[in-house]
This record gives sequence, structure tokens and C-alpha cells, in this order.
Amino acid sequence: MKISWPQKLLKPLVSDSGNDIRSNIYDDIFYSSSGAIDEKRYVFIEGNRIPERLKLHDRVTVLELGFGLGLNFIATVREHRQQASRCILDYVAFEKHPFSKEEMYDRLSRVLGPTLEVRELVDCFPPLISGFHRVHLSRFISLTLIFGDAREYIKELSASVDAIYLDGFAPAKNPELWDVKLFGSFRRLAAKGCTVSTYSSARSVRDSLTYAGFRVEKRKGFANKREMLIGVIEGGKFVAKIPKEVSIIGGGIAGFSTALALSRFGVKSTIYESEPRLFNRASKNPLPLIRPSLSLDFGPRGRLNWYAFFFARDFYKNLQKHFDIGWRKTGVLQIAKSNEEFEKFEKAIRLLNLSTEEIELIEGGGVTAFGPKDPELKGAYFSTAGMLDNRLARCAYDVLSEKNIEVSLSATVSSIAEAEVMFQRDNETHRRTFSHVFLCNASSVQAFYPQVNFRVIDIPGQSSCFKAAPVQCGIPISGNGYTASTDAGSIWSSGTYRDSSNDLDIKEEDEMINLNRLQSFHGSKISSHKPRAIENWVGVRATTHDRLPLCGKFDDQISFVSGTGTRGFTWSPMIAEIAVSEALGLSAPVERSLMQRMSPLRHKD
Ligand SMILES: Cc1cc2nc3c(=O)[nH]c(=O)nc-3n(C[C@H](O)[C@H](O)[C@H](O)COP(=O)(O)OP(=O)(O)OC[C@H]3O[C@@H](n4cnc5c(N)ncnc54)[C@H](O)[C@@H]3O)c2cc1C
Ligand SMILES: C[S@@+](CC[C@H](N)C(=O)[O-])C[C@H]1O[C@@H](n2cnc3c(N)ncnc32)[C@H](O)[C@@H]1O
Repeated sequence: MKISWPQKLLKPLVSDSGNDIRSNIYDDIFYSSSGAIDEKRYVFIEGNRIPERLKLHDRVTVLELGFGLGLNFIATVREHRQQASRCILDYVAFEKHPFSKEEMYDRLSRVLGPTLEVRELVDCFPPLISGFHRVHLSRFISLTLIFGDAREYIKELSASVDAIYLDGFAPAKNPELWDVKLFGSFRRLAAKGCTVSTYSSARSVRDSLTYAGFRVEKRKGFANKREMLIGVIEGGKFVAKIPKEVSIIGGGIAGFSTALALSRFGVKSTIYESEPRLFNRASKNPLPLIRPSLSLDFGPRGRLNWYAFFFARDFYKNLQKHFDIGWRKTGVLQIAKSNEEFEKFEKAIRLLNLSTEEIELIEGGGVTAFGPKDPELKGAYFSTAGMLDNRLARCAYDVLSEKNIEVSLSATVSSIAEAEVMFQRDNETHRRTFSHVFLCNASSVQAFYPQVNFRVIDIPGQSSCFKAAPVQCGIPISGNGYTASTDAGSIWSSGTYRDSSNDLDIKEEDEMINLNRLQSFHGSKISSHKPRAIENWVGVRATTHDRLPLCGKFDDQISFVSGTGTRGFTWSPMIAEIAVSEALGLSAPVERSLMQRMSPLRHKD
């Protein structure tokens, strides 16, 4: 990774006087108190011809330096909604000193009133941790917030930008956000016709923009301001059209997440699944946890774990609002297996610097939510983590139909040539041509490309379900595997690891391993005699040699969303979002270097 992660974020440090909000760091005001939103609209929205673009184009990528209170974002969203536009608004913004949700709500509702957009933005506003955060305000509108110094993070941005809003504090007070090197990155990011606008007409800004390749001109400033700047890029990169007819191979959580990611951006898809129902292989998993994993690994895998967790919990929470998918925000306790591990947890929590609403260190059973205090229990508690159950599998078909996604069951895809898909159904061979194909078929991706070794290994494992009597076992616990209670008073213990990928039988010895875990996590709450499991399940984890998924483009028409190993329910929503964003020509929701590490091309010689 090019930038160390996580980095400590410094608070915005503001003082409020009357209608003004002043930054004490930069000694400047956030917006003009005479017509805050009108000025934003004039300078940035009209300055970049956003109304016309939302009308005529099917995708607009906006890049803003810095996000502040999000007034520019809200003004852009309002324009999108007033037009009832179906153009994708792909909004990317850097912010070095993000406000907390509460501070945002308080100040935004003072300036704009508690409007729908204010509530929506605050609701989806990400946790205060450095790096990339992708959230969705509503269908067609996505926001990528990058918390950190724009000068560093811009190197990690992958996007084809149509419009740039330069909204730092005054150049004399906040020179780093008008830095000529920072502007130099616009050359790499600008799409053909990319425009830029700013309220400043400073000579240095004009020169830096000219250096970055923009043809710059002055125009009349807002209200009584004399001048502002607008510019248009000379050259810029060509961005391919959005694929219209898309197919997805595989109807597990990876295929489901991909179809929903496409639908959020208004792209229709067809899923091909060889089984007679959806979620019938690894995704038949009876009780997957949605949780991060705490360690001092802050490399690509560690970072993906956190990004994907934040994205997944919102994904399931939002689905649960409309469908009974069985998402429960239970909280999850990750136990420390030794004092050394506990010390590592302490250090990791300090570095992550997240609020205690996200993560808390538990020592000596100090939290009553775990039932009777257990002095032996030490670990980290993620209060916003949770779990799913088989209700998701049961209603997956309804979710997809409601979103107009076509599902073709008992249809096995035998080959893909460019984006022509050949599949067998009812003993007949069919062909259909698409503009893009997503491979969401776990380790079976290998069958389509025998000449490339994707290094996917199938690792089967067994989970066992026991009657939880006599005591309810409370929240899910993870360590070496995990335990999680069902609504019906039983408890799953998961899972074992097998060496042979063909070893798919239910085994008594695996049941014993699962029982031992249950007894070690819950101690006296489980009766001492050896109860037999009331149910067992064997699933296969499609894992890669470096434990990172296969995510992103393989060629112009094929993308991968596969190889999620032990983490498919937690990772799939995010890796689907990454692969779909790339295929649709939108900004990437994570760092470029992380995308490279996950690319299926890492295996192509
Ligand atoms: C014991 C165990 C415990 C786990 N616990 C957790 C957990 O707590 N949290 C978590 O996040 N994850 C967990 N996982 C991992 C998770 O279950 C998987 O990563 C996830 O289900 C993989 O989903 P998928 O959609 O990639 O694959 P699958 O569910 O296997 O879906 C792939 C689909 O592609 C179809 N297919 C294949 N080839 C073709 C073809 N040619 N044509 C058409 N269709 C095709 C298959 O039929 C299959 O339905 C666990 C896994 C196991 C085994
Ligand atoms: C004038 S305010 C932006 C107002 C905002 N556009 C809005 O509409 O509400 C400038 C913002 O730039 C941020 N900023 C300053 N230097 C930065 C840097 N180097 N990287 C990223 N953000 C920075 C500040 O923290 C501040 O929030």
C-alpha cells in the first residue's frame, strides 16, 4: 500500500458565530452567510454545466476538494432530483477534517433546515476513519468520501472525472488544497470535456490550472464578487459507454450483490445459476456473521476487511427495511486467545481510533449484554456487527424480481466468448450476447480459462447446530471459528477446515471440533455431557493463495466477483460494488493499489 492506513484524522475545530461557521485551523469561513447554497449553485453547479450534463449524459463523475459540510453535494443532489434524472451521479470528495454525523446534522440543519437530503446524508455518513468510503444516497446517486489529505490520496484515486469543484478555503489560508502538484493529478483523472470551477480568481490558481492542462477563463463572480474561474481540459481520456445488457454467472451472495450493485446504478442484468435455486452452494450457509476481524494487519486484506464490513452492514440494513432477509444487528465479540493477542487488540483499537460505538475492548466480562459476567472473556466487541440467516436465501428471488433482475435457474454456463454466453438448460444449448459478463461462480471461474491459473483453492468446512439449553448463549462470539444463536433457541458452531476439496461428507469428528469450540466459548452454559448436533452443514470456501478475492476486470467485457473464501457474506457487497463501478466507468470505491492487489489479472502472465 502506498499510504499507511489508518491515519489519525484531525477534527475540523470550528467556532460558530451567528450564521457563520469558521474553521480555527484555516481561519476562514465554510460558506458565505449571504446565500450559502445559491453561491454554491452558481459557482460549481452552473460553472460546470451540471444541469445540462444530468439531462444529456448517462453518467457524471464530480470531484470535489474538500467536502466540508457537503453543501455542494446537496446542491448537486437537488439538481439531480429536480430533473428526476436517471443519469448516474458519481460524486467523489476529499476531506481532511471530516465532521461527525452529529456535527454535520446540527450545522447543516441550521443552514438548510432538516431537509430530506440533510437527513439522508447524515444517515449514510461513514465512520471517521481515514481512507475510502462508498455510500449510496439513493438509486443513481453514489458518494465516495475520501478522508485524508487530498495531496496524498489523489494518487490512489481511480476515476474519469467530468467536473471538478475547487472549494478549499481561500488559497492564501489553505494553500495545500490549491497545490500545483495536486492539480497536476487532474491530467491523469480528467475525462474528455472535463471542466473545473472555483470561486477564486487568484493568479496562482489560474496558473496551476493552466499547468494541469485546462483552458481557463474568468467569469463574473457570485453576487457582488467580481470574478471567478472556470476551465475546460485540453484532451482528456475517453470513457467507454455504460454496458446495457449484462449477465451474471452464479446465483450465490456474490451474484446477488453484483445484480443489486448494477441495479443501484440503473443497469439491468440476468443471472444464470446451474442449481434449481439461488443460494444453494456455499451461500446456503445457515448463519453467516457480518463482522470485521481485528488484528494488526493493516495491509490490503486488513483494509478490505474494514471497508467491506462498513459497506456490508449498510447493505443488509437497507435491504432489511424492505424485505425480511433475516439481518440482525446483534454485535459480535471477537475473543482474544491469549494475553499477547489481547495486547495486539488494544494496539489495533488505538490505531483505528474509531468511536466506542463501533469497537470496544472487553476485559473481565465487563459488559452485561453477554449475560452472566465471565471474568475469562477478553476481547473486542463490534456493536454494529451482526448476522444473517436462511431467510435471505428464501427471499433472494423476490428481492431480485422486485428490482426487475432476470433469473435463469438450472442454467449452466458452459463457455463465454467475448460476452457471448453459452448455457445449457432443459437439455438444450442456448446462446445470448451481452455487453458485459460478471463471473460470480466461486472457484468454477477456473473452468472458463484453463490457460490461466487463478490459484483458487476449495476448502470445505462443516458447521454444527446444537440445542442451546439450558442457558441462552447471547451474542455471537468469534475466535477460531464462531458461535451464533438462532431465534429458535439453538446455537451454531462454525466451522472446520478440511484438506481435500472433494471431502464433502458430514463427519462426526468435525461435529466434535464444533462442540469443543462451543464449550470453550460458552463454558458452563453448555452441559458437560456430549450432546449430538441437531443439524450439520458442509460448505466450500473458494479461497485464493493470497486470501484476497478475484475482483475487477479481466478484459473489456469480463469482470470477476469471486474467491471470497471465508468472508463471502461480508465481502461480496463491497467487491461487487468495486467491480461494477469499474465496468460502468465510475470512480473506484477503494484505493487503486488495493484494486491491483485483487485484480484477476494478477494471475495473467
Ligand atoms: C463453514 C463456513 C462458514 C462460513 N462463515 C462465514 C461467515 O461467518 N461470514 C461470511 O461472510 N462468510 C462466511 N463463509 C463464506 C461464505 O459462505 C462464502 O464465501 C460465500 O457463500 C461465497 O459465495 P459465492 O456467491 O461466491 O459462491 P457460491 O455460493 O458457491 O455461489 C456460486 C454459484 O455459482 C454457480 N455456478 C458455478 N458454475 C456455474 C456455471 N458454469 N453456470 C451457472 N452457475 C454456476 C454455483 O451453482 C453457485 O450457486 C463461510 C463458509 C463456510 C464454508
Ligand atoms: C470551504 S470548506 C468546503 C466546503 C464544502 N465544499 C461544502 O460545500 O460544504 C474547505 C474544506 O477543505 C478541507 N481541506 C482543507 N485542506 C485539505 C486537504 N489538504 N485535503 C482535504 N481536505 C482539505 C477543509 O477541512 C474544509 O472542510
